[in-house]
Amino acid sequence: MFRTRRLRKTAGIRRLVQETKLSVDDFVYPLFIEEGENVESEITSMPGIKRYSLDRISKELDEVVELNIPAVLLFGIPSKKDEEGTETWNDNGVMQQAIRFIKKNYPGLYVITDVCFCEYTSHGHCGVIHNNDVDNDATLVNLAKQTISHAKAGADMVAPSGMMDGTIDMMRQSLDNSGFANLPIMGYSVKYSSAFYGPFREAVDSAPSFGDRRTYQMDPANRDEGMREATFDDQEGADILMVKPAMSYLDIIRDLKNNFDRPIACYNVSGEYSMIKAAAEKGWIDGEKVMMESLLSMKRAGADIIITYFAKEAAKVLNR
Ligand code: PBG
Ligand code: ZN
Repeated sequence: MFRTRRLRKTAGIRRLVQETKLSVDDFVYPLFIEEGENVESEITSMPGIKRYSLDRISKELDEVVELNIPAVLLFGIPSKKDEEGTETWNDNGVMQQAIRFIKKNYPGLYVITDVCFCEYTSHGHCGVIHNNDVDNDATLVNLAKQTISHAKAGADMVAPSGMMDGTIDMMRQSLDNSGFANLPIMGYSVKYSSAFYGPFREAVDSAPSFGDRRTYQMDPANRDEGMREATFDDQEGADILMVKPAMSYLDIIRDLKNNFDRPIACYNVSGEYSMIKAAAEKGWIDGEKVMMESLLSMKRAGADIIITYFAKEAAKVLNR
């Protein structure tokens, strides 16, 4: 008889045959940075995650470095918004200040920046509005300005999350023409229009004031289209391809892993974090075990990089 249980008998043999290993090296930790001073505010729907102003963020960064987490993903929350999100390319804006602060005080920490407009526009959409919808090509022009501003401030990597067509091509050309040929781009290549982003939109105040994002983000029903999106980003020269969200889209992560010769990232988004936190608080699940199992599932699906609000907690588990 085939007896697969022989190789499950003791901890020793289980260690030897374990196929997937999570590591702190896989993690990127998102940070919400608010313009101003003396800000350290809890995000109700994301227990353990806060918005910080730069004067209050050092202990958070100390902890990230101490836990040996390699990278952070920055989101800026500006004090003023307008129709186009012009603050995104202000060389003295909250994001640009944050980049300079972190690179100066934590030079070994890898800084990835979110390149988008939704936290910066009065209407909450990811670009310029014309005729009640986001104008793709007008947004690309502003995207180039924002990208160069992040690069000049010292970002290590830029990550456009707005799902405009031609984004990678526009960013790659602008970076190359401005002396940043070595700055990598992580494409939010396959990003779905998902209800799992709810807590994030509360966190950064970026919920659209009218309509939704279905004219630019993908329909959760579509898998072939995900391949098409990834193909465009790959051909335009994205260095890393991302799938977002992660937990409900493990099939898409595996598709990309099998079909593209690029590192694959996934974004374990806010709603995925909040669900586990809420159930754990109620005592309905073992929060730590479910956290580790869900992160492991992303790695097993094919993710080389996992962007997760659990990064600090999971690092503590892995380091012990
Ligand atoms: C938008 C953006 C979103 C997230 C990051 N950047 C989603 C959205 O509002 O459409 C979601 C992150 C999360 O839920 O953790 N550019
Ligand atoms: Zn956006």
